[in-house]
Amino acid sequence: MTNNNRANFGSKIGVILASAGSAVGLGNIWRFPYETGNHGGAAFILIYLACVLVLGIPIMVSEFLIGRRSQANTAGAYQKLAPRTHWRWVGRMGVLAGFLILGYYSVVAGWTLEFIIEAASGSFVGKTAADYISSFTTFSTNPWRPLVWLVLFLLSTHFIIARGVEKGIEKSAKIMMPMLFILLLILAVCSLSLPGAGTGVEFLLKPEWEKVNASVFLGAMGQAFFSLSLGMGCLCTYASYFKPDTNLTKTAFSVSLIDTFVAILAGLIIFPAAFSVGIQPDAGPSLIFITLPNVFQQAFSGVPLLAYVSSVLFYVLLAVAALTSTISLHEVVTAYLHEEFQLSRKRAASLVTGGCIFLGILCSLSLGVGKEYTLFGLTLFDLFDFVTAKIMLPLGGLFIALFTGWYLDKKIVREEVSNKGTLKMPFYKLLIFILKFIAPIAIALIFIKELGFLKL
Ligand code: PFF
Repeated sequence: MTNNNRANFGSKIGVILASAGSAVGLGNIWRFPYETGNHGGAAFILIYLACVLVLGIPIMVSEFLIGRRSQANTAGAYQKLAPRTHWRWVGRMGVLAGFLILGYYSVVAGWTLEFIIEAASGSFVGKTAADYISSFTTFSTNPWRPLVWLVLFLLSTHFIIARGVEKGIEKSAKIMMPMLFILLLILAVCSLSLPGAGTGVEFLLKPEWEKVNASVFLGAMGQAFFSLSLGMGCLCTYASYFKPDTNLTKTAFSVSLIDTFVAILAGLIIFPAAFSVGIQPDAGPSLIFITLPNVFQQAFSGVPLLAYVSSVLFYVLLAVAALTSTISLHEVVTAYLHEEFQLSRKRAASLVTGGCIFLGILCSLSLGVGKEYTLFGLTLFDLFDFVTAKIMLPLGGLFIALFTGWYLDKKIVREEVSNKGTLKMPFYKLLIFILKFIAPIAIALIFIKELGFLKL
């Protein structure tokens, strides 16, 4: 069932970096710290790590094998592997989730552009923690400024998507990902050396189990899916561009390891810094935008040039990490429209970009002038985040596990995991056991426990 005309990633390292590029993004550096802060710290992180290991890696292998086997976009994949069944709705729900995530994710991605300009124009210098908070609030609730950045960000995504898989997606990931790792490492060292950093480290390492409830589990599970780009067919779409010799299990391990490493590193940067300047860790989505400018100023207070360069570079790389993720979200929807509705790739991409600009504008305004319009007490921005990360992605993951564990012919699963018998499969039995029983039961239990909370 291969399609020789289909685009491919050109190299093994390209496969890993593009998939890791999708996984590593605002989810690690922006969302992970504030979710950890909202859910009490170390205990959340441990549950998160368990979710990555037990749910994330097996479901990632599943998405990979569904994508590579079918050589199709995520909705088309289920139609090929399970023709005339309702499984196609799993793929369609994924496409919808991708569209919604891209809508609100691009708003935050746009903020990173504003911060590049602020850092580059030296406006972080000489401010107090309270100044950072007020200038962030003024910016994010402004009706116009964030919209300009949002549109600019989506147009950049559009441009790369239009260039295609190898020249656009793979090439950008290969350059930017290594730069991001190096800068994060340097920043972690700086943040850990700030006075009072110890309280932040303790917050990250000392679990307070008595604070753990069902919502902490749902939060950790949602974060794992979001951060690993799982549950909506994103990695399934990327895997449709993998070559037959890509080792799916190894790639899933590498991507999860890189993603987790970056999230922990982000925690090690943000929390010591936040505690050191007296910002509460549960500040929510604004957390990194109010703590980090401070880190640069304080850590390099004696060397202003270093403070300047590192802050500009950080926001550039944050924007790039966001870009490699928005590309992957965009690709899910573009590939779907292109292949299922016979639209040209350019036309499909334009429709997605246009739709996301519209959604993004609504999400951005919901933080400022539209703040009073809420549903279930959430602004549109928060609602999109909640519905996608905490409901659609885990639900998608549940169905993906059931599909591979129960529905799909095990001959297909074996062939894909072992690359037609050429690779050893030391974890095969465990993989199937998890997909059949552990993952569906765990996800269902967390949902059921949380339903009481949802009713409230
Ligand atoms: N994993 C990305 C991040 O952590 O920023 C966000 C994301 C990308 C979620 C692609 C879902 C997805 F399909």
